[in-house]
Amino acid sequence: MGFLYVLLGGFALIALVNAQDQSGFISIDCGISEDFSYKDETTNIYYTSDAQYIDTGVNMNISPEYNSTTLQQQYANVRSFPQGIKNCYTLRPAQGKDNKYLIRALFMYGNYDALDKVPEFYLYLGVNLWDSVALNNASDVVMKEIIHTPSTNYIYVCLVNSGFGVPFISALELRPLNNSIYKTQSGSLGLFARYDMGSTIDQTIRYGNDVYDRIWSPYNFAKWDSISTKFSNDSFSDNNYKPPSIVMETAVRPSNASGSVDFYWSPADSNSQFYVYMHFAEVEKLQVNQTREFNVSVNGELWYGPLVPDYLSITTVYSQSPLSGSEISFSIYKTAKSTLPPIINALEIYMVKQLLQSPTNQEDGMFQSVFAFFDAIMKIKSLYGLTKNWQGDPCAPRISLWDGLNCSYSGFSSPQIISLNLSSSGLTGEIAPSISNLTSLEDLDLSNNSLTGQLPEFLAEMPFLKTLNLTGNNFSGSIPSLLVEKSKNVAVLVESNGYNEPRDTNEDVQAYGPNKGKGVLVHYAYDELRNITRNFERVIGKGGFGTVYHGYLKNGTQVAVKMLLPSAHASKQFQTEVELLMTVRHKNLVSFIGYCDEGPNMGLVCEYMANGNLQELLSGKLSWKQRLQVAIDAAQGLDYLHSGCRPPIIHRDVKTSNILLSENLQAKMADFGFSRIFPAEDATHVSTRVVGTPGYLDPEYYQTQQLNEKSDVYSFGIVLLELITGQAAIVRSNVNTHIVQWVSPMLEGGDIQNIVDPRLEGDFHLNSVWKTTEIAMACVDPASIQRPTMSCVVTELKECLAMGITGRTHGKIKEENEDSIEMNVMGPSAR
Ligand SMILES: *[C@@H]1O[C@H](CO)[C@@H](O)[C@H](O)[C@H]1NC(C)=O
Ligand SMILES: *[C@@H]1O[C@H](CO)[C@@H](O)[C@H](O)[C@H]1NC(C)=O
Ligand SMILES: *[C@@H]1O[C@H](CO)[C@@H](O)[C@H](O)[C@H]1NC(C)=O
Ligand SMILES: *[C@@H]1O[C@H](CO)[C@@H](O)[C@H](O)[C@H]1NC(C)=O
Ligand SMILES: *[C@@H]1O[C@H](CO)[C@@H](O)[C@H](O)[C@H]1NC(C)=O
Ligand SMILES: *[C@@H]1O[C@H](CO)[C@@H](O)[C@H](O)[C@H]1NC(C)=O
Ligand SMILES: *[C@@H]1O[C@H](CO)[C@@H](O)[C@H](O)[C@H]1NC(C)=O
Ligand SMILES: *[C@@H]1O[C@H](CO)[C@@H](O)[C@H](O)[C@H]1NC(C)=O
Ligand SMILES: *[C@@H]1O[C@H](CO)[C@@H](O)[C@H](O)[C@H]1NC(C)=O
Ligand SMILES: *[C@@H]1O[C@H](CO)[C@@H](O)[C@H](O)[C@H]1NC(C)=O
Ligand SMILES: *[C@@H]1O[C@H](CO)[C@@H](O)[C@H](O)[C@H]1NC(C)=O
Ligand SMILES: *[C@@H]1O[C@H](CO)[C@@H](O)[C@H](O)[C@H]1NC(C)=O
Repeated sequence: MGFLYVLLGGFALIALVNAQDQSGFISIDCGISEDFSYKDETTNIYYTSDAQYIDTGVNMNISPEYNSTTLQQQYANVRSFPQGIKNCYTLRPAQGKDNKYLIRALFMYGNYDALDKVPEFYLYLGVNLWDSVALNNASDVVMKEIIHTPSTNYIYVCLVNSGFGVPFISALELRPLNNSIYKTQSGSLGLFARYDMGSTIDQTIRYGNDVYDRIWSPYNFAKWDSISTKFSNDSFSDNNYKPPSIVMETAVRPSNASGSVDFYWSPADSNSQFYVYMHFAEVEKLQVNQTREFNVSVNGELWYGPLVPDYLSITTVYSQSPLSGSEISFSIYKTAKSTLPPIINALEIYMVKQLLQSPTNQEDGMFQSVFAFFDAIMKIKSLYGLTKNWQGDPCAPRISLWDGLNCSYSGFSSPQIISLNLSSSGLTGEIAPSISNLTSLEDLDLSNNSLTGQLPEFLAEMPFLKTLNLTGNNFSGSIPSLLVEKSKNVAVLVESNGYNEPRDTNEDVQAYGPNKGKGVLVHYAYDELRNITRNFERVIGKGGFGTVYHGYLKNGTQVAVKMLLPSAHASKQFQTEVELLMTVRHKNLVSFIGYCDEGPNMGLVCEYMANGNLQELLSGKLSWKQRLQVAIDAAQGLDYLHSGCRPPIIHRDVKTSNILLSENLQAKMADFGFSRIFPAEDATHVSTRVVGTPGYLDPEYYQTQQLNEKSDVYSFGIVLLELITGQAAIVRSNVNTHIVQWVSPMLEGGDIQNIVDPRLEGDFHLNSVWKTTEIAMACVDPASIQRPTMSCVVTELKECLAMGITGRTHGKIKEENEDSIEMNVMGPSAR
């Protein structure tokens, strides 16, 4: 027990309640009008509007039925974020970086959007996931609190749309703490519980009483009695944790004087790490023949002791290393010489949040000061009056980089900004000198603006620059000789600038054009699509995203033209995402040929797949071999998305109707990356995702909102079960049954014959079906961690195919099934 630290009260402090100032506090009532600020009547905290902390979002009032005179004012309005995936508040605490802060975000939905549907979304701290926000109902208040030491002077608190409704926020607060408290070995501390034990008033305690504005909730329990000091005029001698006197004035003790104070919790994840802080102070004046002495144990082992709390003097007990386990159980029990039962006055439990991803490199070069990079880009923004949605970290989360920016990533080190596209952004004046501070840039596009003046020499000195597009501006003077020199190995484009471009440039364009090595993206006008589809004559499919038409390109190639339902999503993002998908090419993925982006008319031109989708095909006749081949093809496509793409792409909508078949029955995954093109704000998409594809949705993802590629594995397992059984994901009969529930009892009875699709007429190899079923069941394991990866699935399915295709199903199953594979779902009992 060498890791315990005890802080004893040092000196007496005359508590002057409400006399502390709020210096260093940031208290934002999100959603109130820009020029409004007020003092909260109950807490005396001064709240300001969020105008100076964020540029995006809209102010909304909660629905009157959820408002009342007793509702805290901060909840009466919210800021909501219908636009963009990520929206961030920028907090600049006065004490700056490397200091400890308590940051608190508060949420109450109050049906502000009259949709009567509570959203779920993510909360990010900088580039790292802080928590997900899930509210139970419109009046539920959710509070997220973290103790965090930022490594930058800016703290971004970001709301990220996860596809389950529009994010919003009610209030955001930041409080400086003393750096000497709440230390961890690593990570930040998310609040798990903070209790005022034995409180005699049914009310939370916070600022005014608590200098750090921690919020203490009353806690009592039937087997405990509350005790309190009768001398509340006496002041507590404080320690650095400064728990409020009013919290320390009460304590609990076991009702049974020889018993103990016990509490425990069972973490959802036994690897989660916790830090526990217990605050003790004697609140009774003891007689000379009385002693209170106790030990504290965790999971039956001594954690601290013996402790004799001093009268009205605070002792804080905590461990220097975190606790973890499937159950964490504390007991505070008296020692042999104690005549009085043990007590505890206050308790705090925090869960470690490892915020691993570093913020985007703001140093960027050894010789520059820390914020040169970020400052540079913000200077450019303000110099040119850009109204771009630039907030939060430029490079994270990766699904929503800043508009016009691209970044490179490697492991957990800081991402670097490598391209900046300010083409056609209405820039005027000279080239911003701050651009010279963006030293990691590889591509800079300033084309089609009204920039004037001389070309600065620093452009030639940017170390990593590969393309520089200055076309379509009004520069004057001569081109700096350094830049002419540089243009020999950098694609410098300066046409139509009122002077002659340097020689060689055009050749360089060819050699360094940005499309080199990527798929060529064809942009189609809406009229061209009309021609291609002969006025949208033949509908070949319909889905949540829109309608699919058949068409012919000029050279006779057949194509599928997907016309997308109008989306609130910015078309610029649409183009970016399509460009990204263009680079994803694999024989088992339907390929993109081009796109159309004219206002509400957004369309995708894709490879045409003559044999339609697997859902339709399964209702006809497919042999066991064909089914396995289809499964292998689809699995290979998914494997490529998961492990062949950087960043990995999660399909999110794997189902039989998204597996298309070519003329010769080669299967390809369709609609991959659609979740990127249509992040959640498209309502149709959301309902399609949640309601439209029942049966395929990974239950763990649905519950935890933590998406990873194993969600696709789950959906693929359902597809496999459909291939084996010929049943739909939801088996329709008197009662609709999920295919997993339908299959499981029969498998447990070893009843493979009744599972297999009768349309196969017994024409399959039993071992092959068994093994395929086992793979399917492993894929649909409720715990994503137990599911195999797609590359493992591919390997296993190939073995199934190799096992032989024909063979009658007579004979004893147990004897035939000699193979065993190492997938841990089906035990021997299933055989
Ligand atoms: C909420 O109720 C309070 C008190 O009744 C009132 O002052 C305030 O204007 C209301 N706010 C909204 C947004 O309706
Ligand atoms: C809303 O949810 C909270 C938290 O689960 C619960 O305590 C409360 O009773 C619910 N209110 C209504 C009106 O359902
Ligand atoms: C923080 O605690 C340390 C250690 O006790 C103390 O010296 C220091 O004055 C405290 N700082 C503030 C700002 O209260
Ligand atoms: C505190 O002391 C003053 C005078 O000594 C007394 O009038 C007051 O009632 C006391 N307050 C409490 C809460 O005991
Ligand atoms: C009080 O606790 C002691 C020790 O746990 C136990 O032996 C005793 O039965 C308890 N008494 C009552 C009344 O529960
Ligand atoms: C402690 O002393 C008081 C008198 O001062 C007496 O009434 C009480 O019984 C004693 N208690 C114990 C545990 O000895
Ligand atoms: C309390 O802890 C001390 C060690 O610090 C130990 O010697 C003592 O036996 C413990 N008491 C009980 C009742 O477990
Ligand atoms: C961003 O840069 C990465 C790495 O160079 C590249 O693979 C990707 O295609 C780029 N994305 C866009 C949208 O330009
Ligand atoms: C580049 O960054 C440095 C360090 O912050 C700063 O002093 C300098 O003014 C910046 N240069 C320009 C042109 O903004
Ligand atoms: C340069 O910009 C012009 C105008 O935006 C564009 O047409 C051209 O394709 C760009 N060239 C390169 C190599 O990016
Ligand atoms: C569409 O087809 C007609 C007839 O072939 C042709 O005249 C017209 O130019 C085409 N329009 C487009 C936009 O390709
Ligand atoms: C027809 O044109 C498309 C798009 O330009 C191209 O991908 C395809 O290879 C062409 N097909 C033939 C047979 O030339």
